[in-house]
Amino acid sequence: MHVNEQLLQWFNEHEGQFVSGQQLSQHLGISRTAVWKRIKKLEKQGYQFESAPKLGYRLIRKLLPLQVDWLKLQLQGNPFAREIHWLDRVDSTQTRAHQAYIAGATEGTVILAEQQHAGRGRFGREWHSPAGTGIYMSLILCPRIPLAQATHMTLLISVSLCRAIRKLTGANVTIKWPNDLLIKGYKISGILVDTIAEADQVKTMIAGIGISVNMDLEDFPEPLRAKATSLKIATGHNLSREQLIISFFKQFEELYAIYLTKGFAPIRHLWEALTSTLQSHVVVTTPQGQVAGLAEGITENGALRVRDQQGQVHTLYSGDLAWSP
Ligand code: BTN
Repeated sequence: MHVNEQLLQWFNEHEGQFVSGQQLSQHLGISRTAVWKRIKKLEKQGYQFESAPKLGYRLIRKLLPLQVDWLKLQLQGNPFAREIHWLDRVDSTQTRAHQAYIAGATEGTVILAEQQHAGRGRFGREWHSPAGTGIYMSLILCPRIPLAQATHMTLLISVSLCRAIRKLTGANVTIKWPNDLLIKGYKISGILVDTIAEADQVKTMIAGIGISVNMDLEDFPEPLRAKATSLKIATGHNLSREQLIISFFKQFEELYAIYLTKGFAPIRHLWEALTSTLQSHVVVTTPQGQVAGLAEGITENGALRVRDQQGQVHTLYSGDLAWSP
């Protein structure tokens, strides 16, 4: 057994009790400094210890890794989760999914990580990804659609996720265009879709999904606390990350089938029913500049329609949206 596992086992056997550095060093056959270093390493992975002079250390919060075998069992037959790869600590599942795709991975490949140290958000932002408390996953998708309709997929993902979370928690989760999920205005999930196209056709999409599930407020860095929250904070209790992942894939499979048979219209209606963006005054920052006005609706291609003060309607395919004060 690895030293870290031995250490955790010892703490488990002494649940709720302080264990001295001396005891641990004797039990593990390593120096007290080495014990201290191991504890610091575990803390980086998300475990929390209380330390007290003379008494030693006490484990106050442990994290269970995702039950991947159970996930695989529950998702058997789901075409979008055919191959689930679980990784402990990675730079970014998005980067790993790109690498997997280049190496030949196909639709239905999912990369899941317990923790990311270089999690990526939209517009080059960082995605805070502490160990064991969130969902960080990237999906490889190969829809046969024109590039102009790539937005359909991102909206389809946000609708699926929003419905999954609502169903499991009962929380009033809404979608902020294009695909942030919010509870009471605080962000709980973000979606980043990288599209690879060939001659105006989508070839592959790497859809990265980040969900803040069981974080406490102090798990977020100070600057994020004013705008982000977790499902635990919002609902008052821990949530099974596995249930959430399973529920998402079920919703996605169901809605994707509707999309294939009936087109984008039903998905658009669902999106419109779940969004908090429409009929409000917004400012959208795009690479071409800012557009301010009333968010009126989305087009057949999934673009946002914003009517400015002069009555001109702008059709926006991507951008960073804020509500006007
Ligand atoms: C955003 O709201 O800016 C999008 C955030 C997307 C984060 C997810 S976490 C899993 C995947 N890996 C990454 O590095 N990013 C995405």
